Amino acid sequence: MKRLLRPSDIPESIWEPESEVVNLPEALRNAYAELLAKYNLLQVARTQSEFKGEKGGRDKKSTEYHFATKFQNSSGRVLLTATDPKGSLQNASDLTLRAFAGGQVGLLDIPSGSGAATVALLTTIAELRENHIVPSEPLTVHVVFGDASSHALEIARELLALVQSDLERQAIFVQARYVEWDVTNAEETTAIIHEWVTHAQDCCRYFVLMANFSGFLGKSGKFKKAKPQLGEVFRWASQRSSTIVWLEPQVNEATNTLFPKVIEWLSKVTPSVFVLLWHRSKVKLFASCKLRDSILETTPWIHVCLLRLEPKK
Ligand SMILES: C[S@@+](CC[C@H](N)C(=O)[O-])C[C@H]1O[C@@H](n2cnc3c(N)ncnc32)[C@H](O)[C@@H]1O
Repeated sequence: MKRLLRPSDIPESIWEPESEVVNLPEALRNAYAELLAKYNLLQVARTQSEFKGEKGGRDKKSTEYHFATKFQNSSGRVLLTATDPKGSLQNASDLTLRAFAGGQVGLLDIPSGSGAATVALLTTIAELRENHIVPSEPLTVHVVFGDASSHALEIARELLALVQSDLERQAIFVQARYVEWDVTNAEETTAIIHEWVTHAQDCCRYFVLMANFSGFLGKSGKFKKAKPQLGEVFRWASQRSSTIVWLEPQVNEATNTLFPKVIEWLSKVTPSVFVLLWHRSKVKLFASCKLRDSILETTPWIHVCLLRLEPKK
């Protein structure tokens, strides 16, 4: 079937076909550089190999180190998913672009960290709109960002403010809420769902974006503690006919350890609620390419592995 976004139509500003390198949208690169400077993190970003393995935590230092060393990779994985330049991700690109083609959309971004996933997604769509590759119907995204780190949420707020005028020029309007949320805490989970249900009302589509949770959920005992709350999120998401896309770096702890556990658990707790459309046990849906790191001026490899859930009709 013909794709909505053909690889040959992806603007060279975000995909360099000869060298197979993705490049983050300029608005996002500028906003990122401004925040690195604001938080005195340029040096950390430039010496990032010393902080290899930084997974992001709730305290200020872990949040900032993660932002300085992993933000571009997180954003690149979302860009790769939305554009799928090498055609390795089945209908991931169509699904994402259709969901955000226009109208009112309710988005839950958990754990949002500093907002990489949502902001990369929306600035990528803005870039496609600016190049007249996709239509520019007015789009309002009612997003709830949830994360255990209040500092990460503050950075997400600032990041969004910095790209807002670029988004609005392309008729993309964002109404955001920021919620401190611990996935192992039942009350906080009910509270974030309540926020999402009230903030994003009467939307034509709902989307749950989960990016890079394996660093936390892969730690001993954490997935077990998180399961009841994830179950609550998934049941509410299904009530709202949401698509859930969960993306992880293609590292062992995500694709070979966490995802199989998630899939086994889902098949027991939500078999009548969701259909798992990607990442069946043996067929992994993953893609790789190089990313232009605008701070180091290098092109490291990035890898993404996806899981997608759709409510049963
Ligand atoms: C690897 S980062 C991913 C953030 C973002 N989705 C991205 O792609 O950049 C993991 C995030 O999980 C958050 N986190 C850690 N423990 C958590 C918990 N118990 N509940 C919710 N979020 C948590 C951290 O604060 C961090 O922002």
